[in-house]
Amino acid sequence: MKSYVTGAVSALAIAASSAAIAGPEAEVLHYWTSGGEAKSVAVLQKEFADNGGTWTDMPVAGGGGDAAMTALRARVLSGNAPTAVQLKGPAIQEWYEEGVLADISAVAEANGWADVLPASIAGHMKCEGTWCAAPVNVHRVDWIWANAEVLKANDIAMPTTWDEFNAAASTLQAAGIIPLAHGGQSWQDATVFEAVALGILGADGFRKAFVDLDKDTLTSDGMIAVFDQMRTMRGFVDPNFSGRDWNLATAMVMNGEAAFQIMGDWAKGEFMAAGKVPGEDFLCMSTPGEGFLYNVDSFAMFAVDGDEKKQGQDLLAKLVVGKNFQEVFNLNKGSIPARTDVALDKFDSCAILSSEDMAASSAGGSLLPSYAHGMALRGAQAGAITDVVTAHFNSDMSSADAVQQLATAVANSM
Ligand code: GAL
Repeated sequence: MKSYVTGAVSALAIAASSAAIAGPEAEVLHYWTSGGEAKSVAVLQKEFADNGGTWTDMPVAGGGGDAAMTALRARVLSGNAPTAVQLKGPAIQEWYEEGVLADISAVAEANGWADVLPASIAGHMKCEGTWCAAPVNVHRVDWIWANAEVLKANDIAMPTTWDEFNAAASTLQAAGIIPLAHGGQSWQDATVFEAVALGILGADGFRKAFVDLDKDTLTSDGMIAVFDQMRTMRGFVDPNFSGRDWNLATAMVMNGEAAFQIMGDWAKGEFMAAGKVPGEDFLCMSTPGEGFLYNVDSFAMFAVDGDEKKQGQDLLAKLVVGKNFQEVFNLNKGSIPARTDVALDKFDSCAILSSEDMAASSAGGSLLPSYAHGMALRGAQAGAITDVVTAHFNSDMSSADAVQQLATAVANSM
């Protein structure tokens, strides 16, 4: 009898201990797979584990997240959504409307998110008044990155207009240096395009074109000038640009093979991960023109079963907007904190410039959602624009044809 009872007691003890070990858990789908990105997401994985969480990683390589979003659709359609997903902008609303997002308002209210997030960011994190996503950062898209030594050796200053950029690029090309490091992937073409568009159309023109989808602006002489500049930029990339990953283009600037890259400040995460020093090894400057194109990474929690997963979602949401994470993650990622109460003492000159420009552009009405990175439009409309941009960049399509195709593609996507 004794041995039977003992056996039963030890079985209960094992069950109890395993239940105690269970704790918060999360399978997290994201697309942070480059050097700087992986280092950044490791910060979150460590904090989650330090708080008793069990993290199951679901990285989906592919800059810009297109592949990740395809994987997400497959998982949700099969009734097996990940616990948490790197999801941002209007895509959050699209998934909310599918009825598959979890409400994290309790975490947001318990941690006072409304008091520490700018309205421009909080607005993207709410679904019909409830909190449906947790913001990680503020990336700026409209940056030029440069190899400091290459510019100095060729007596070139960072360009403040597109004419200056074109002159500098021509000088570099004549010296046998690749002027523009670029990856020929549609999202990267769109990234360069929107930076050029901001500079040529201005903030109001950008908003009319890529937020309001105003047909007159999409077919305007200004938009023709944008495509003219894109044709000029096409002449500054190397013959092997097609299909290149963005971080390999960053490496070309890092090693002096190329002079410039136009890319969001996740590129700075690559420079930092390689131990490069801003202002010494590389230079940062906003692309020509007034304004600030913001791109806010965030995590949305999907409706899943199981207390441990719900605990994992609440823990993840709390950590993501926590002050420590907001500092450490963004120091690695190249972005700035989404929270307004995180001191920037440890951040570099590029981050300080980003923070100052964000505040100034917010006050001046030129703080704009990135269309190329899913902040301005829903997927169908953003994709329609990008299809025309990348078709133009990879053909001899005229600017006049491009703007007509732009208006038609947008109209057909509605
Ligand atoms: C952006 C994303 C960044 C970075 C970049 C390159 O859309 O917001 O965090 O991942 O793509 O993949």
